[in-house]
Amino acid sequence: MNAKTPPTIDEASLRNFEELARTRRSTRHFLQDPIPDGVLERLLECARWAPSGYNLQPLHVITVEDKALKERLAYACLDQAQVREAPVVTIFCGDLKVHRNNFEEMLAMEKEGGSVTEEYEAKLKKFVPLAFEKGPVGMNWLWKFALPPFMRFFTRIPDLPAVHSKRWLSKQVSLAAMNFMLAAHSAGLATVPMEGFDERRVRGVVKLPSSIFPVMIIPVGFDRDGGNHRKTRFDLTRIVHRNSW
Ligand SMILES: Cc1cc2nc3c(=O)[nH]c(=O)nc-3n(C[C@H](O)[C@H](O)[C@H](O)COP(=O)(O)O)c2cc1C
Repeated sequence: MNAKTPPTIDEASLRNFEELARTRRSTRHFLQDPIPDGVLERLLECARWAPSGYNLQPLHVITVEDKALKERLAYACLDQAQVREAPVVTIFCGDLKVHRNNFEEMLAMEKEGGSVTEEYEAKLKKFVPLAFEKGPVGMNWLWKFALPPFMRFFTRIPDLPAVHSKRWLSKQVSLAAMNFMLAAHSAGLATVPMEGFDERRVRGVVKLPSSIFPVMIIPVGFDRDGGNHRKTRFDLTRIVHRNSW
């Protein structure tokens, strides 16, 4: 007999993760205590292992610990107290020129790791410039923006990062940010994801190059109030649509 044992679910591990996901919460007041040495790097490691489209890895994270800079950031974040209070404020960003900056290097890494076949490499080399390249003075952007609505009658056209670059980056960077926040929570640290900031002012405070887009600001540290607010969410029956809407 050659009966295969059916694959099984790791119940204990899933339960741990369910608990982690359910109990993570946004913290708006932090203790002054610093994050113990080496822990921030470990959280950032977890962010680094998040997936990204084509494995292009557009993520960049600015970590701000300097008090004066945090003060200026807090102003740029509409005076949200958590930015002043948290021992570390991270700014999760994406690289708008990632196809130029990372593509060749990523491909070499993938080839060395044996995870890219020749066929896939040929596909990537064709598709990535097509999807991302804006061309001189945005000329490629123009036809990539204008043509797809008509071409869709004849063929299948995915969203092109060349046109929707910030939307594309927001997806990539948010996945890494969630890894970061869950890792922090698992370590007993608190976070809050933030989109409430004045982008131009944040850029000025941490000297972001124009090709780097700040997606989310995440203060991190120990929770001052000890998780005393109740989380609420809509029920699954309201948000899950089986097979179609
Ligand atoms: C993309 C995003 C942006 C957010 N921006 C802010 C913000 O600027 N300031 C803030 O205090 N909370 C912000 N939040 C936190 C939400 O208010 C919070 O996640 C939500 O109320 C649910 O609470 P919980 O995170 O404790 O489960 C943001 C959350 C997300 C996902």
